[in-house]
Amino acid sequence: MAYALITGASKGIGKEIANELAKRNYDLLLVARSESLLAEVAKELSTTYKVKTDYLSVDLAAVDVAQQVIDWTKQKGYEVAILVNNAGYGLVGPFDSYSILQNRDMLNLNIATLTEMCHHFLPVLKRQPKAYIMNIASSTAYQALPLMAAYAASKIYVLNFSRGLKLELKKTSVSVTCISPGATSTNFNDRANLQEKARKAAEKVTMTPQEVAKQSVDAMFAGKTEFVPGLVNKLGKFLAWIAPKSITESVAMGIYE
Ligand SMILES: NC(=O)c1ccc[n+]([C@@H]2O[C@H](COP(=O)([O-])OP(=O)(O)OC[C@H]3O[C@@H](n4cnc5c(N)ncnc54)[C@H](OP(=O)(O)O)[C@@H]3O)[C@@H](O)[C@H]2O)c1
Repeated sequence: MAYALITGASKGIGKEIANELAKRNYDLLLVARSESLLAEVAKELSTTYKVKTDYLSVDLAAVDVAQQVIDWTKQKGYEVAILVNNAGYGLVGPFDSYSILQNRDMLNLNIATLTEMCHHFLPVLKRQPKAYIMNIASSTAYQALPLMAAYAASKIYVLNFSRGLKLELKKTSVSVTCISPGATSTNFNDRANLQEKARKAAEKVTMTPQEVAKQSVDAMFAGKTEFVPGLVNKLGKFLAWIAPKSITESVAMGIYE
């Protein structure tokens, strides 16, 4: 079986996507920073599903890091047929309350590394009889988000880049799917410094990472271009599309303030 490479596979949605793919008999390459967590996930999934696993501990916010990832797969002779660009995070609060370096790190991970991973892995993926790219955006990709302005804009990039790439690759064996999850119970909120008010607002509509992963992997294998897990999130996407931008942006500002 060819390998599925998943970034941000040490926890949260990425770990559950790895679990879903192992269930479907894919061998796994797990990438994130936390070496001990990666080792645990790799061991757990190889034992449970009898698949091959390996992992690389690396900071994906670093410049040119995608080259290091592809070099690792080449040295080890791994043939990758599925690339899941899931690693990412947000920063909640006024844009200028974070340093340039903090903003740059987030944009490097959410945008630059994701793009470079696609670029480096495309020749490998095109060699496969059937291959997939799954890029994780966010429900924030459907509107501007005050107090998460740079994060939301980075996910708009992920959505539109994925849509464009999908059509470009129409005559190849590579299918591209962009997933836009809404609130999901992971470590995301802690890293984003999300305040209690916004956590409360999201509580009732929060999905589990297991649900998000199962629906996302199904959508990828179904060849969907764009997929929003969960009914409430689908409704949110529709409302963001029909409502005046000034209203959706003010409502969001109220939640995150
Ligand atoms: N949870 C939500 O509510 C939500 C909503 C919409 C979209 N999303 C998107 O879903 C994706 C996964 O997030 P999550 O909710 O699962 O969050 P999470 O639980 O914080 O997991 C994030 C994953 O990315 C990895 N990661 C973060 N920074 C990294 C770096 N610099 N280098 C390498 N790996 C890094 C983390 O591993 P290490 O810490 O070990 O490096 C972890 O495996 C993200 O792209 C996020 O934007 C999440």
